This record gives sequence, C-alpha cells and structure tokens, in this order.
Amino acid sequence: MNIASTHETYNYKVVRQFAIMTVVWGIVGMAVGVLIAAQLVWPDLNNLFGLFGPDFPYTHFGRLRPLHTNAVIFAFGGCALFATSYYVVQRTTQARLFSDTLASFTFWGWQAVIVAAAITLPLGITSSKEYAELEWPIDILITLVWVSYAIVFFGTIMKRKSKHIYVANWFFGAFIITVAVLHLGNSAAIPVTLTKSYSAYAGTIDAMVQWWYGHNAVGFFLTAGFLGIMYYFVPKQAEKPVYSYRLSIVHFWALISIYVWAGGHHLHYSSLPDWAQSAAMVMSLILLAPSWGGMINGMMTLSGAWHKLRTDPILRFLVVSLSFYGMSTFEGPMMSIKTVNALSHNTDWTVGHVHSGALGWVAMVSIGALYHLIPRLYGMNSMFSVGLVNVHFWLATIGTVLYIASMWVNGIMQGLMWRAVNEDGTLTYSFVEALKASYPGYAVRVLGGAFFLAGMVLMAYNVYKTVKMKDAVALDSVPQAA
Ligand code: HEM
Ligand code: HEM
Repeated sequence: MNIASTHETYNYKVVRQFAIMTVVWGIVGMAVGVLIAAQLVWPDLNNLFGLFGPDFPYTHFGRLRPLHTNAVIFAFGGCALFATSYYVVQRTTQARLFSDTLASFTFWGWQAVIVAAAITLPLGITSSKEYAELEWPIDILITLVWVSYAIVFFGTIMKRKSKHIYVANWFFGAFIITVAVLHLGNSAAIPVTLTKSYSAYAGTIDAMVQWWYGHNAVGFFLTAGFLGIMYYFVPKQAEKPVYSYRLSIVHFWALISIYVWAGGHHLHYSSLPDWAQSAAMVMSLILLAPSWGGMINGMMTLSGAWHKLRTDPILRFLVVSLSFYGMSTFEGPMMSIKTVNALSHNTDWTVGHVHSGALGWVAMVSIGALYHLIPRLYGMNSMFSVGLVNVHFWLATIGTVLYIASMWVNGIMQGLMWRAVNEDGTLTYSFVEALKASYPGYAVRVLGGAFFLAGMVLMAYNVYKTVKMKDAVALDSVPQAA
C-alpha cells in the first residue's frame, strides 16, 4: 500500500495532533520539573526572587509540584498514549478509527483539560488528592473525553478486519477501562462551589480509595498503556516478531489481576488495618514476576537483532526503557517490604524510584515510539537527523542516571539520619541537618533534569525539521507548470 492510500485508509490527523502535543507538553512538564527541582536548591525561586513582590504564591513549590505531575503524567504521558493507541489500533485491525468526530473531540477535550489544569493548579484550586487534584467540573470533562476515547478505541476493535486482537490492544484496552473505573471511584465528591468539593469518603477509607487509585494510576496509566506501546513498537523497530506471544498473554492477565491489590503499600504503618498492609506487600512482591515476564519478553524480541543497537538510537531508547522498567519493578517490590519501607518512606528514595519509572521507562519508551512514528505520520522514511536522536538518547540516559542516583543517595541518607539515635535515646540529627546534607543531591538532580529537558528541546527541533522536510518533499512532487 503506498503512503497516499495509507493516509486515506487511516485517520492519521488525530495521531499527528497528539504526537506533536506529546513533545510540547513534555517540554512544558519537564521545564516545571526542573524549576521545582531548582526551588529545592534555591528556595528564593519559590516567589521568583521577589520579581513580583514578596508575596507571590502562584509559583510556590506546593502549587507547581502538582502542575508538574499533572503535566508530565496526563499531558505528556496521556498524549503519547492517545497518539500511539490510535495509531496501533488502526494498523493492527486494518480499520479506520470508529469515529473521526469523536476522535477529534478527544483531542480538543484533552487539551482543554490540560489548559484548565495549568490555570487552576497555580491558583491553588485543588481537591488535594495526589494525581487527582483537578476540581469537579474538570473531572466531568475528563469523564466525557474518556468515554469518547473508549467508544473510539473499542468501536475500532469491533470494526476490525482481522479476527485476532493483537496483544498491544489488550494492554491499551485494559488501561482505558481501568482508568475510567479509577477516575469515577476516586473522584466521587460533594461540590460546594464551582471550584471546591469535598471527597465522598472520609478518614482511612478516603486514604485507601486514594491509594487504590494512585497505585493503579501507576499500574494502568504509567504501565499497562506503555506496555501496549512496547508490544507494538519494539517488534516493529527491531523488525522481529515479539519473542513469545504466549508469554505476552500470561503477562497481560497476571499483571492486571495482581496490580489492583497492591495499592496498600503506599499506606504502610498508617491507620489502614495491618492485614491490608501485609496483603498489599505480598501482592507487590508477586508483581515482580509478571513485570519481569513483560520486560524479558520485550528484551528477548531483540534476539538475533542485538547488532542493530550499534546503529539505531531509536531501538536504544526502547531497550534502555525496558531496562529501567525492569529496574523500577524490582525496586518497587523491595520498597513494599514493610521493613524496607520503614527506611524509604517519605524520603527522596521514593522520588528516585518514581523517576526511574517515569523518566527511564515512561518517557524513554514514549520518545522511542515517537521517533518511530513521526516520520511515518508525515510520509517520510526517517527523522530529519538520526544524529540528533542519538544525542537525545545520551542526554536522556545521563539525565535519568544523575536524577535517580542522587535521589538514592539522598533517600538512604535521610532515612538513616532520621532514625539515628544516641545512647540516651535522643535523636542524633535534627531534621534541618538531614535537609542540609541533601543539598548536593538536589543540585545534581537539577543537572540531571536539565540534561533530560535539553534532549526534549532537541527532539522538538528534529520533529519540526522533519515536518518541514515533508512539506519540501510534497512541493517537489507537485508537477511544475511549463
Ligand atoms: C526533567 C525531568 C523531570 C524533573 C527535573 C522532575 C522533577 C521533579 C521534582 C523536583 C519533583 C518533586 C519531588 C519532591 O517533592 O521532593 C517531582 C515529582 C514527581 N514527578 Fe518529576 N521530574 C521530571 C520528569 C518527570 C516525568 C517525565 C514524570 C512522569 C512521566 C514525572 C513524574 C513525577 C511524579 C509522579 C512526582 C511525584 C513523586 C512523589 O510523590 O513521590 N516527573 N519531579
Ligand atoms: C512491581 C512494580 C512496582 C511496585 C511493587 C512499586 C511499589 C512502590 C512502593 C512500595 C512505593 C513507595 C510507597 C511509599 O513509601 O509511599 C512506590 C511509590 C511510587 N511508585 Fe512504584 N512500584 C512499582 C513500579 C512502579 C513504576 C513502573 C512506576 C512508574 C512508572 C512507579 C511509580 C511510583 C510512584 C509515582 C510512586 C510515588 C507515589 C507517591 O507517594 O506519590 N512505580 N512504588
């Protein structure tokens, strides 16, 4: 099938829109990440060194932190998931998206959600539930977009020309359904004004529902959806079939049935009943098996194609993302062991773990997939500059390593300093001493974040040039008037 007819068969417009916005929101979200990281080194940055007077709350860490998490998870990660799932479902079912109008609504609706978040969070309008901070009118818009997404995705599956449903679609499907259930369950609230609501749950139950949501947001938004990306783009880029289709099915069912029981590990040593904490710990330990099953399946897809890593930076992004996936899904179960959690909880170790998943896995697999996708969406054979992709790969890898290594050092040091006691039972260190000792780590994190962000800026330039190149090719192919 030539490129022109491919473009008529499939709806690539919405895929292109989401793909471009992934890069844009990636830069915005990570720039805010670098800013809040810098605020922890130079606290005066909280009110921009007094640029707008001494009392300027809109840029305080407490307001920008949720802006960062929402921007990177839902804007950057969300757009990457929309773009890739719409592309993959069309290619693997050989059917055009179920409805162009609804697909377009999901694009504009999702951008509206992001803009609303960018306005309300710095204003301090928040439900104060982590990763679900947006107030109820925005929650309703999210629900409308998500239902439309489900209709477009599953409607396309229903229209499929092949009997079989490729495994990537199973992961995307589970992500779409579960996120719908999580959002509806956790966002249940009683509105009091247009900008304020109170959770429908109280006390420990509120915490339990919140972490059932929070953990499964990790499991389904940041993991299952991105595994869908992995199962399509790794075999494609390696030009090899997936290592074991049987393993991918076992991986799917094991992962989705175990993840949902593990959220209690966020509430160790809290008022959640002890048995529930222990059950969550056991489920988290079991979760290592399917997680690694998936990682090994992705890695082994490269058997016989390892030499391609020498020349293909896109494949490098994908393989390194799998290594970080393996690393963070080993670290997570370890941190869920109650005695380990007693050391790691509330320290920078958690933040390091988060970013080995978020930068190493989620961002790297998305970037790799986008580099595969973007030239194809614009009818080109490759990106404008493969050399720049390679530079991006190194910036991202070095940035991630600097970030997570500094947070491990900080985290373990903080945990040990907080628990150190003198012979008479008094604390050896004050909190401020532990904070002071954390400064070098915070500075290294700013550097790591800046590396990662610089890579994203290079990517934006490369994407821009690729799109422009396409315009030039299109112009060249227009017959010239005699
Ligand atoms: C340039 C890259 C990035 C930088 C510099 C950065 C920086 C930060 C900082 C400074 C925090 C606050 C830590 C604290 O409260 O002590 C944070 C939190 C967080 N970031 Fe990032 N970040 C980056 C990229 C990302 C990406 C790509 C994602 C997700 C895909 C992500 C997800 C999160 C999450 C979930 C938290 C909350 C962690 C927690 O509550 O333990 N970040 N980030
Ligand atoms: C087998 C898989 C995993 C397990 C068992 C696991 C377990 C854990 C544990 C025990 C914590 C610390 C809770 C605390 O002390 O407060 C944690 C925090 C976290 N993990 Fe994981 N993790 C896994 C994989 C991942 C991956 C792949 C990502 C990202 C893509 C991720 C993102 C997060 C986030 C965002 C938090 C911080 C939540 C918060 O406090 O705001 N995890 N995880």
